[in-house]
Amino acid sequence: MDKTLLKSQALQQYINETNAYPREHEQLKKLREATIKKYDPMISTMSVPPDEGQLLSMFLKVMNAKNTLEIGVFTGYSLLSTALALPVDGKVTAIDIDRDAYGVGLPFIKAAGVEHKINFIHSDAFPILNDLVNNGKEGEFDFAFVDAKKEDYIKYSEPLMKLVKVGGVIAYDNTLWYGTVVEPEDQVHERLRKPIKYVRELNSLLATDPRIESSLVSIADGLTLCRRLY
Ligand SMILES: C[S@@+](CC[C@H](N)C(=O)[O-])C[C@H]1O[C@@H](n2cnc3c(N)ncnc32)[C@H](O)[C@@H]1O
Repeated sequence: MDKTLLKSQALQQYINETNAYPREHEQLKKLREATIKKYDPMISTMSVPPDEGQLLSMFLKVMNAKNTLEIGVFTGYSLLSTALALPVDGKVTAIDIDRDAYGVGLPFIKAAGVEHKINFIHSDAFPILNDLVNNGKEGEFDFAFVDAKKEDYIKYSEPLMKLVKVGGVIAYDNTLWYGTVVEPEDQVHERLRKPIKYVRELNSLLATDPRIESSLVSIADGLTLCRRLY
């Protein structure tokens, strides 16, 4: 295996063992283990890793976020991290086309005592975002986490710019797309190739949009934080 890859895997293991795993909530650990047991490794790695979950959690608390959106739930690692970080009367509206995967994580969400903070919507995200805009929810959300199909991120960005309040944050996950954003496409595994173009387009758009300030954080698979300025 290539040396750089081995080093980044060793660093991730170091971060997990020294920092992330010791601080992981008991129900998040159980949810993570149930996900690994249920799905093959290609699928189970879709969950955000514990260090990223912990960054999101701290960020939400620092922001005093109360009302958030999540697009792309899978079994709920980022969702449970969010629900645990929100105050008792906080709400997260979470959208996914896959209800079965949410069912895998739900027992752990219930055991953590935060199910009441979650409004899970079983649907394609785009019409729901438009419904929220059309139903007067503009500026109602403090934070949005986007972790669905990379092809759709740009499509979500405009309704999200309306739904998240000025001063609020939109976070886009996987903006380094397994490091492939810097690789020639013909050298990238076929399975990863298609989204590269969309991720690069999104990154260029976010880097030049005057309505936000942004930071591409190289945690996990890349997380771009965008604060709405106006
Ligand atoms: C990378 S996973 C999300 C991982 C999750 N954030 C976690 O921490 O476990 C992507 C999810 O996006 C969902 N998804 C894909 N296309 C979607 C769409 N058009 N609308 C809503 N959800 C979608 C998939 O069903 C999948 O569960």
